[in-house]
Amino acid sequence: MKGESELTVAGLAHDLNNVFATLLEAADVLSADAKWTKLAGTIRRNVRRGERIVDSLEGTLAESGDLGEILDNAVQHAGDVLTFTRGNSITPRREIEGGIQLPGSAAAWERVFVNLFLNAAQAAPDGVEVVIRASQTETATTLTVADNGPGIAASILPNVFEADITTKRSRGRRGLGLHIVHAIVTGNGGDVMAENGETHGAIFTIRLPRAGVA
Ligand SMILES: Nc1ncnc2c1ncn2[C@@H]1O[C@H](COP(=O)(O)OP(=O)(O)OP(=O)(O)O)[C@@H](O)[C@H]1O
Ligand SMILES: [Mg+2]
Repeated sequence: MKGESELTVAGLAHDLNNVFATLLEAADVLSADAKWTKLAGTIRRNVRRGERIVDSLEGTLAESGDLGEILDNAVQHAGDVLTFTRGNSITPRREIEGGIQLPGSAAAWERVFVNLFLNAAQAAPDGVEVVIRASQTETATTLTVADNGPGIAASILPNVFEADITTKRSRGRRGLGLHIVHAIVTGNGGDVMAENGETHGAIFTIRLPRAGVA
């Protein structure tokens, strides 16, 4: 017999699959009209994202941990959210070494980057540039995500990874994004730090031990 938490995940996955099936039906209906084909495509892409997140919770997903692919998905995902919530745009710039593999679930890493990108967009009054850097030594991988927005308010900077810490008042904002980032990074044996640039902008630095290295 399954333990309670396994059943919770299995039950959640089961019920969310009904939600996904309904959304896919709606996308099919929409795509019959040429005017809505783009929206139908966005709905299908987001259902696939939801399925990947559920699969990663169930641990049944065979995924590539390639950083370039994870960033492609995260940039597209954040772009979809910002388009449909009428948010500011982000301009991502990558300075990453080729061939970097991240440990664990790619869907979880996508959530890390999406949360960091959305925060950068939500902090800046106009479009924001986000620079993603990644490098590796024999023992560690270092990732940074830096933006040219106003930076993190000094009053919350020391506690910014705690749940419920937020400066946003809009519906659905719960101060959870960075808490999720922290949980995923530490769950993979790494750590994450937040600071502000000397003149402007927020900088998030993630350090991860490389596989097989203590
Ligand atoms: N790139 C950034 N620039 C400026 N401030 C930031 C940035 N990222 C986070 N913050 C600040 O940290 C707070 C906490 O961020 P977090 O992602 O945890 O929650 P949220 O964005 O407020 O809500 P949620 O992510 O749950 O929608 C934000 O409300 C914001 O004040
Ligand atoms: Mg957030």
